[in-house]
Amino acid sequence: MKIALFASGSGSNVEAILQAIRAETLYTTPAFVFSDRPNAPVLEKAKRYGVSTHMFRPRDFDSKQQYEESLLQLLDNYDVQWVVLAGYMRLLGATIVEPYTHRIVNIHPSLLPAFPGLDAVGQALGAGVEKTGVSIHYVDAGMDTGEIIQQETVPITSEDTKTSLEEKIKRVEHQLYPETLQQLFEERSKGVLQRDETGIDKCQ
Ligand code: GAR
Repeated sequence: MKIALFASGSGSNVEAILQAIRAETLYTTPAFVFSDRPNAPVLEKAKRYGVSTHMFRPRDFDSKQQYEESLLQLLDNYDVQWVVLAGYMRLLGATIVEPYTHRIVNIHPSLLPAFPGLDAVGQALGAGVEKTGVSIHYVDAGMDTGEIIQQETVPITSEDTKTSLEEKIKRVEHQLYPETLQQLFEERSKGVLQRDETGIDKCQ
């Protein structure tokens, strides 16, 4: 499986995935890391692992469609099979979602469907809930609405601040994302999951 990683920020999840690949607990080839932000620290992190990087900004294109067509061309050039979103803070449009249906995954810092969208950690703290968590899901055209693949709960204590809760969530993410990707790729390569004519994965 050849993957592309999309990220907008610090890239700690990208790093956890690249470490797992290096440690041979995740069997995949990282074709490139893409960021929509020129100064995103993830770009330097990827270079340290010897992974190619690409960056372009949506505002340098006439439309979102043209931006995503360039991204799609990049995915084609590298013959990428899976797109892994790791802190990519933009909604993907049909230009990419349709050709990659059930081959784009995202990680989100809440127990979806609770707290979708931006600042999921702040939303959970603001709602006063006792637990939140991490969700890994397929990406569809909606905002964090795709089919859920894996979830793990993170308890919230009365001492938690936004920083402490973000740290707890990221610790879970760094374990869960590489593990889940490995399971997913194994299942697909063994043919355990087969796509029917509607595009929905079905267990045999
Ligand atoms: C992660 O916590 C990820 O779940 C979240 O952004 C953070 C990126 O951190 N993603 C979203 O909120 C997507 N809606 P990182 O750059 O350190 O990997």
